[in-house]
Amino acid sequence: MTIAVPRETHRGERRVAATPESVAHLIKLGYEVDVETGAGAQASFTDEVYREAGARIVADAHTLWAAADIVIKVRPPSADEACLLKRDATLISFIWPAQNAALLELLAARGATVLAMDCVPRISRAQKLDALSSMANMAGYRAVIEAAQHFGRIFTGQITAAGKMAPAKVLVIGAGVAGLAAIGAARGLGAIVRAFDTRPEVGQQVESMGAEFLSIDIDEEGGGTGGYAKQMSAKFIEAEMALFEAQAREVDIIITTALIPGKAAPLLIDARTLACMRAGSVIVDMAAEQGGNCELTRPGEVVSVHGVTVIGYTDLPSRMANQSSQLYATNVRHLLADITPAKDGELQLDMADVVQRGTTVMQRGTVCWPPPAVEPSPTPAGSAAASTAPAASKAIKAGDDDIARRHGVWSLVALTLIALLLLALGAVAPGAFVAHFTVFVLAVFVGYQVVWNVTPALHTPLMSVTNAISGIIVIGALLHPGDAGMIVRVLSGIALVVATINIAGGFLVTQRMLKMFQRT
Ligand code: NAI
Repeated sequence: MTIAVPRETHRGERRVAATPESVAHLIKLGYEVDVETGAGAQASFTDEVYREAGARIVADAHTLWAAADIVIKVRPPSADEACLLKRDATLISFIWPAQNAALLELLAARGATVLAMDCVPRISRAQKLDALSSMANMAGYRAVIEAAQHFGRIFTGQITAAGKMAPAKVLVIGAGVAGLAAIGAARGLGAIVRAFDTRPEVGQQVESMGAEFLSIDIDEEGGGTGGYAKQMSAKFIEAEMALFEAQAREVDIIITTALIPGKAAPLLIDARTLACMRAGSVIVDMAAEQGGNCELTRPGEVVSVHGVTVIGYTDLPSRMANQSSQLYATNVRHLLADITPAKDGELQLDMADVVQRGTTVMQRGTVCWPPPAVEPSPTPAGSAAASTAPAASKAIKAGDDDIARRHGVWSLVALTLIALLLLALGAVAPGAFVAHFTVFVLAVFVGYQVVWNVTPALHTPLMSVTNAISGIIVIGALLHPGDAGMIVRVLSGIALVVATINIAGGFLVTQRMLKMFQRT
């Protein structure tokens, strides 16, 4: 089958749905890849590098679409593009089916199969396809850069010979993917960052990134099913708006990302709150496309009201087209890998698979959206989830206590059994054997307790301890008496091999982890 990568026609769109790297992967899956000339130019991918990766460069859109069995795009196709799609072909792109009924009709008329990158279910298994999160991450970072561009001062505080400069204060509303990325970027530039979200469980993540988590005194849980946000009561919104009004007097920059899936963005910054901000302050309204969190936002535009700049850009990921394209192209090629199980260049949709089912909004001209509900993966226990609703955290705590109690009982039973075994052995075996055996059994017991009771976060230091123990074993095995019997030699040999594997493995894992933090 042939995959086509057209040039994006939406005004200002600089991303492209495939990079030379992803093209090479698609070819390995058995596909032929056609790229429209100049498709990657604005994301710094020339026709030449696509050609080197194995793609054919096609001069015009009509020829490209006409030959394509699968078309991969970033933005939903325009009406003109939809009419270019070959009959019974497959389209993969952002679609936003709830907002694009007319587009769905056009595609249905062509008997198309449509996979929407915005409909990938948010479950752990589908993370590698989650283009919404990839793009929100880029957008959150870019929102801070745009704010810095319009803010006439530096973010970090400084004391210089010429005077003191206070650090910029940033308020982030909504601590989802985009919000957390914005917090990270603003902290990185040296700002003091505060954040608010209706879901208290994200408080830990906000604080771990060095920001302050603000709260209001209303007992209403913001998490809907599967940890997603739900629409809050009018009383809650009123209270949070009062908080934002108070904050607006203090902060220099507000970045709003509040969103409830499938709903219009909640209005959180009204004209009165905006008027409280100092001249020169900046608001970046990331929810501009869904109606905006700020009353004065104009989608796609930058406006200035009472000296406050309100940025409503809806193309933030596109403003970092190279990396956004890389992430998006990787999401798309993972999806294509999933639907090409035989790697034979033939697409096979498995509608029994929840991820493929959720992503497919149309199959051979029949709209199959919305899909049956999928329960999203829960937040990992013990971290964020531990601080959700009081009832939930009580249940988790009760469960933890229960596990700890059972663990304690088993440890006691094991210790008693070991003591009895050693007593029995003492009566029959030689003294030296009993002494060594006691050390061995206690080492196994202590080792088990240490490994199983250490939290995952401390596994790295634990690894260095086990490496040190393995080193002692190696020395012990090498120093055993030369005249020892066969059994001792064999045992020493085995101990030497196992300990060496542990040491070498430890070093390899450490090296891999260090590589992850290396700046190239
Ligand atoms: P998300 O769903 O991961 O996060 C939204 C957060 O808002 C959630 O944590 C939710 O609890 C919170 N929230 C909901 N109602 C709230 C309220 N009343 N007060 C405070 N917090 C509230 O969404 P994600 O992926 O982080 O995207 C955030 C926004 O950024 C979306 O509106 C998205 O469309 C937009 N976006 C904009 C782009 C642009 O170019 N402007 C590009 C990519 C995303």
